[in-house]
Amino acid sequence: MKERIEALGLSASQELNNAQSLQEIEALRVKYLGKKGELTAILKQMGSLSAEERPVMGQLANAVRAQIEEVIETRAKELKEAEIEKKLIEESIDVTMPGTPRSVGHKHPLSIVLDEVKDIFLGMGFKISTGPEIEWDEYNFEALNIPQDHPARDTQDTFYLSENKLLRSQTSPVQVRVMEQQEPPIRIIAPGRVYRSDSVDATHSPLFHQIEGLVVDKGITMGTLKGNLADFAKKLYGEDTKIRIRPHHFQFTEPSCEVDVTCFRCHGEGCPMCKGEGFIEILGAGMVHPNVLRRGGIDPEEYSGYAFGMGLERLVMFRFNIDDIRLFYENDLRFLKQF
Ligand code: PHE
Repeated sequence: MKERIEALGLSASQELNNAQSLQEIEALRVKYLGKKGELTAILKQMGSLSAEERPVMGQLANAVRAQIEEVIETRAKELKEAEIEKKLIEESIDVTMPGTPRSVGHKHPLSIVLDEVKDIFLGMGFKISTGPEIEWDEYNFEALNIPQDHPARDTQDTFYLSENKLLRSQTSPVQVRVMEQQEPPIRIIAPGRVYRSDSVDATHSPLFHQIEGLVVDKGITMGTLKGNLADFAKKLYGEDTKIRIRPHHFQFTEPSCEVDVTCFRCHGEGCPMCKGEGFIEILGAGMVHPNVLRRGGIDPEEYSGYAFGMGLERLVMFRFNIDDIRLFYENDLRFLKQF
């Protein structure tokens, strides 16, 4: 029996040391030390031993049990450590590997110029106002002196959401909204999206941007308008820029005009961009019509004002020499990366 116990101890140690997982160790523990295990089986035969041999075998069996238990503990510890080590290696980060480059975006050309325009007007004491893109017919037309069936509506045909709700065709309704809410003196610009049911081509888009301007105070004249816009043009296009004012017609201004600036390509000489004119049209403007002032709750006997509206896309196209308006909306990175 002595040999059997000793042999059992030996083979148990060997098998345990070869075990490759905690599950294997547990299986071996059951195999050797479990209730139905090999050591227990041997001990069951103790009855056949003599009284002298019994305690000796008992002691040996206990020693072997203790030895096996120790091997189990040591091997289990080794396996756990190996597992942690493996995990650490697998999950380690090589900080010397090149990273995935992240491309940083930048401002859209429309935003670049719009931000410049805002800065210039903020510097001239203007504030920035906004209005809704879904507008009442009342604000987009009626309050601006353009009644139903007036031919001026034809040039600003837009998208209707219902009989009296539409996508605004101009930023001018913001003039009325601001006059309703603020007392003079008023000096605001109102940039934003506008819509017209134009078909798309190189110079037309059903969605584009305008920047409205409105100044209402005592003693505002065409002279104020001319001076302010001349200042603006110089700041946007350079000190040698001149403006030219031509008579025009808008329903909500009287008198009305269009304002041109010196062509920035030929500086007034005349070139294909300005069609030989030396000037390029950038905005419509005029003195706010008394009907519009009254509609905004302002007494035209006491106050006067001027307003202007310019197309942002046009400004940007001339500025960066872009010949097709569609490029602004296509989000082609080859185009956008140039600014
Ligand atoms: N709203 C006009 C347009 O879209 C421009 C304009 C604004 C003219 C303000 C005069 C005064 O054509």
